[in-house]
Amino acid sequence: MTKTETTMARGAQGETVNGTGAIDIRDTRTDRSYSVPILPPGTEGDTAVRAMDLRAIKTSPDEFGLMTYDPAFMNTASCMSAITFIDGDKGILRYRGYPIEQLAENASFLEVAWLLRNGELPSQSDYDGWVHDITFHTYVHENVRAFLAGFRYDAHPMAMLCSTVAALSSFYPEAKNIHDPQQRYISVIRLLAKVPTLAAFCYRHGKGLPFVYPDNDLGYVENFLSMVARMSEPRYEPNPIFCKALEVLFILHADHEQNCSTNAVRAVGSSHVDPFSAIAAGIAALYGPLHGGANEAVLHMIEEIGHPKNIPAFIDGVKAGKGQRLMGFGHRVYKSYDPRAKIVKALADEVFRQVGMDKDLEIAMELERIALGDDYFISRKLYPNVDFYTGLIYRSMAFPTAFFTVLFAVARTAGWLAQWEEMLTDKEQKIARPRQIYVGYPERPYTSKLTEKTPAVPKMPPRR
Ligand code: ACO
Repeated sequence: MTKTETTMARGAQGETVNGTGAIDIRDTRTDRSYSVPILPPGTEGDTAVRAMDLRAIKTSPDEFGLMTYDPAFMNTASCMSAITFIDGDKGILRYRGYPIEQLAENASFLEVAWLLRNGELPSQSDYDGWVHDITFHTYVHENVRAFLAGFRYDAHPMAMLCSTVAALSSFYPEAKNIHDPQQRYISVIRLLAKVPTLAAFCYRHGKGLPFVYPDNDLGYVENFLSMVARMSEPRYEPNPIFCKALEVLFILHADHEQNCSTNAVRAVGSSHVDPFSAIAAGIAALYGPLHGGANEAVLHMIEEIGHPKNIPAFIDGVKAGKGQRLMGFGHRVYKSYDPRAKIVKALADEVFRQVGMDKDLEIAMELERIALGDDYFISRKLYPNVDFYTGLIYRSMAFPTAFFTVLFAVARTAGWLAQWEEMLTDKEQKIARPRQIYVGYPERPYTSKLTEKTPAVPKMPPRR
């Protein structure tokens, strides 16, 4: 006979859940039934149950209760967020409700950064104050020069950026007052202002060039290009097509809801560390080739292919799982064409009209054409993602391949900061601390094995 042990008529926070429905669960171990409320749908209809509600399902009162098992968060919402909306099946991306296509076409990157943080587009006076504050915090402490000088000439710029951003926390100890909205504001301004300066310094270090200080008469993107490329000219005049392209690429990369690096920023920030340390964690996560490092990996892949005639053999290797994946293809969320990739492709055409066709564009286009017609990619819903064409644009602007992910990090700082503040001000959030299912040894007594004879472990060869 089925007993209804618990009817969870209230959500875990104690609110009554009216008219949103519930799921009935019967535990075959105990023959007890449970009714788990379904949370009211989000604005776009997303539904969920609270994992904590499952804790009541247990076989005895002293048992821990049922958990959910979800490696890689394939089906777990870690927060409620009002910042970015993605519909991966329909290829939709919106920041605060505004379609990415319209923002890329009409807005500036700093306008988008304001929007992400504040939820609304800025008025002219909001915008002027925001741009002023960011512009006048672009300089970094002179000790940062000495810090960067400690890196080898061939250090990867993402490694340098990650550590210098983390090091900034030592210059601003008051940033740890994260519950003070004024301190949060100044930290947000400092990060948006100084990450481009640090990024440009990392570039110059790699090239062995003197650092170029910020020029506060220039706009955000122009100043960044000036710090990267200026030589002896008294006034740097950036190529307007490059400025436009970078502005659009920064907007496209500004946020992407709960991706790997944003999750890292939220998780690290949930320990209430200062935002410089939390953003450094985001940069570390972005560095990986399965995330922001993909734009760099796409270029290496195209160089390795070398010629369109080699594409079929390369694709066969990918399909056979022999070599690498088709980098720049596939996405955890998008199961159709990444809307950012469409904009980037059009942008690439514009840039190449100005600087000439990139020799590898032909390979990229042919790769895309073959993959989009191949059943392996179609059946797995693998389409080009934002990184497929960005690398080609960056290279035509003469950025070195290793620097591509740094450009991504400069832009994503805006989203990371908005998400970090949303997490901090969300009353439901606590320190991020997942559970595990322990599958190791049960308790066993300690008995030393140091006296046992085992085959000698080969010694590490001496370092040359
Ligand atoms: N090339 C070939 N096969 C692929 C690719 C790819 N790029 N991506 C996924 N697959 C295959 C997998 O082998 C798997 O096949 P199987 O079912 O036969 O085992 C199937 O598609 C599903 O792949 P998963 O790894 O389970 O998908 P997941 O959602 O975990 O991965 C990811 C998403 C990491 C982006 C993946 O598609 C990938 O590695 N792409 C290449 C790297 C890349 O471009 N990353 C940038 C992402 S965008 C960004 O971060 C800004």
